[in-house]
Amino acid sequence: MPAKVSTKVRKKETNHTMATGTVTQVKSDVKNLDLADQGKKRIEWANQSMKVLQSIRKDFIKNEPLKGMRISACLHVTTETANLAITLRDGGADVVLCASNPLSTQDDVAASLVRDYNISVFAIKGEDNDTYYSHILAALDHKPHITMDDGADLVTIALTKRQDAVTGIIAGTEETTTGVIRLRAMAKDGVLKYPIIAVNDADTKHMFDNRYGTGQSTIDGVIRCTNTLIAGSKFVVAGYGWCGKGLASRAKGMGADVIVTEINPTRAIEAVLDGNRVMSMTEASKIGDIFVTVTGNKSVIGKEHFELMKDGAIVANSGHFNVEIDIPTLEKMASSKRATREFVDEYSLKDGRKIYLLGEGRLINLAAAEGHPASVMDMSFANQALSVEYLVKNHKNLEHKVFPVPEELDKRVAKLKLESMGMKIDRLTPEQEEYLASWSEGT
Ligand SMILES: NC(=O)c1ccc[n+]([C@@H]2O[C@H](COP(=O)([O-])OP(=O)(O)OC[C@H]3O[C@@H](n4cnc5c(N)ncnc54)[C@H](O)[C@@H]3O)[C@@H](O)[C@H]2O)c1
Repeated sequence: MPAKVSTKVRKKETNHTMATGTVTQVKSDVKNLDLADQGKKRIEWANQSMKVLQSIRKDFIKNEPLKGMRISACLHVTTETANLAITLRDGGADVVLCASNPLSTQDDVAASLVRDYNISVFAIKGEDNDTYYSHILAALDHKPHITMDDGADLVTIALTKRQDAVTGIIAGTEETTTGVIRLRAMAKDGVLKYPIIAVNDADTKHMFDNRYGTGQSTIDGVIRCTNTLIAGSKFVVAGYGWCGKGLASRAKGMGADVIVTEINPTRAIEAVLDGNRVMSMTEASKIGDIFVTVTGNKSVIGKEHFELMKDGAIVANSGHFNVEIDIPTLEKMASSKRATREFVDEYSLKDGRKIYLLGEGRLINLAAAEGHPASVMDMSFANQALSVEYLVKNHKNLEHKVFPVPEELDKRVAKLKLESMGMKIDRLTPEQEEYLASWSEGT
């Protein structure tokens, strides 16, 4: 049974924070506080690979730029997110965390954040939709000044169901492609009530997190729940955006015959020139062994595709929402359904074929694996922390729109990451700078 806890927690000195010893009460709804020991070790493990965030944390501890700010964050509750939450807390903020997906929470991490770091968490892996939304409402009860979203559910609930909470919000951030799309639609309709920074759009976020993070962790998720052999498989990737490119290249690296489906002709050409086969989903459905959607769109795999799939086809999603695969239709087409392994549902169709759906169609890298490696989330969450600091200073000058991460912050994250990797690069000479700024010199 999930433990609804209202715990007295003493802030402890940890090996990577400078928290001091006040006693406070944090309200939380996590699965089991007894998991906290394991969660703490895993949070510390991730911290070792998050050098950029560590350097921001040092600065935050010294200057407390977020002092007095209440932050409600709706993010995947993972070891990396824990380190972000600790950094924000060390910057002076009062942070509450809820899940941005019902299946992505790491229960041991949630427990440790509550017990060891005095951070309120409302998140339980496998929570039903009602609990998921009640947790978002609990995060809004915190009366945030700043919202942090991954998929824009927090801001959507605030704007539609909790307008009382909106008045105190000065600004927000958004982590992923799908959330940015939703927020831009809100701004276009004139309903967005405060400025939001699209962290996803920073170069040091999508070029690495979406591509290399999703690429590796999605394959990790597929393998952990099926133990299937990628080599020699016909691996269908739907969507050749940042995530799709990463996934296709990792699958190819493991020996798969990669097939890409797209709706954008330019991206389709890119996929071909990168060495993949490109075809419609209808054609791919006849030959694919493993299908993964990463489009941010809905019903990318539907009835007409299930009808063509081979017996034993594996279907998964790594896009933000569980709408990319038309699961209600698959349910209707099936004569029976059973769980065969953890995160694997076997659908028996009326003609005898079986289709295996992974992780209930939710992002498989977080449902069945641990999400992206910490060293890549280091850059994403460094952008988050610096964007929040920027918003606290500058929100009064910003309209109620979606803004990019300021270029100087994006560049600062890149520079710090490179330094942490022990690499040095060349600098422009004065002569080169002048040459690049002029038009007069030719051959
Ligand atoms: N699993 C994760 O951890 C993770 C990480 C980052 C992003 N995401 C999510 O993954 C999704 C994709 O993100 P991205 O950054 O790659 O976006 P993107 O915009 O770069 O790429 C999406 C691609 O899908 C294509 N597409 C749209 N509809 C399609 C359809 N019906 N069939 C085939 N292709 C179609 C688009 O043309 C585009 O090329 C989003 O929902 C995003 O929020 C998930």
